[in-house]
Amino acid sequence: MSLVIENLSAAVDGKPILNGITLAIPAGEIHAVMGPNGSGKSTLSYVLAGRDGYEVTGGIATFEGHDILAMEPEERAAAGLFLAFQYPVELPGVGNALFLRTALNAIRKHRGEPELDAMQFLKVARERMRTLNMTDEMLRRGVNVGFSGGEKKRNEVLQMALLQPRLAILDETDSGLDIDALKIVADGVNALRGPNFSALVITHYQRLLNYIVPDRVHVLLDGRIATSGGPELAQRLEAEGYATIQAEAA
Ligand SMILES: Nc1ncnc2c1ncn2[C@@H]1O[C@H](COP(=O)(O)OP(=O)(O)OP(=O)(O)O)[C@@H](O)[C@H]1O
Ligand SMILES: [Mg+2]
Repeated sequence: MSLVIENLSAAVDGKPILNGITLAIPAGEIHAVMGPNGSGKSTLSYVLAGRDGYEVTGGIATFEGHDILAMEPEERAAAGLFLAFQYPVELPGVGNALFLRTALNAIRKHRGEPELDAMQFLKVARERMRTLNMTDEMLRRGVNVGFSGGEKKRNEVLQMALLQPRLAILDETDSGLDIDALKIVADGVNALRGPNFSALVITHYQRLLNYIVPDRVHVLLDGRIATSGGPELAQRLEAEGYATIQAEAA
């Protein structure tokens, strides 16, 4: 198993947001999480990534058998966990190239691989950027500074493509992307598919799942998985909305 979450509960500012989430992703699988606004999707991703201010109040989460909740955020990243943010932050004054290279070298070091110098990094980054239809110029700017919504999302996918995580959590990486970019981003995720890669793809739209075909779809309602199914569940949601599932869960 790649990711195992059992009865996970979490609170923010003392307010319970996750109320007993149980979910397992076998290695090699891609699972989608859908759910209404405010149901706890981003909270789940933050708790798994170890963001400050998210208090785990019960349950467990393991990644490749290790208790990730006991690890520092950097240790989680070093172990191969990657989170693409719903709202990527702008870091004025921090060059994108240096930021990405520092992140990559930290992980390479952990894997026992040699660190890349600026030239070596540029070569690898350019190669990845070409496939993502990104321009070099975006490496020279501050991290996400002045990037359009879709450019920020592509920058997250570039980071993922460079780091080659073992588990990627993509929080609405499709939102705000134009039609071509959606396909490019999906290709970026699909390129990582393999026995040692799994992903949790958070999305509001069935459309993305035409490109990144998930093994399972989970519906989060009020901080719990209300139901799970195959890709057809996403189609059903698109047609019916959440009302019937909400009624069934009540
Ligand atoms: N600091 C906070 N204080 C109080 N409530 C919070 C705080 N942070 C998050 N919440 C609440 O937790 C709930 C879950 O938020 P979360 O961002 O996980 O939702 P989401 O499922 O990702 O929604 P969306 O689809 O809109 O991105 C929301 O109702 C939100 O208002
Ligand atoms: Mg969210």
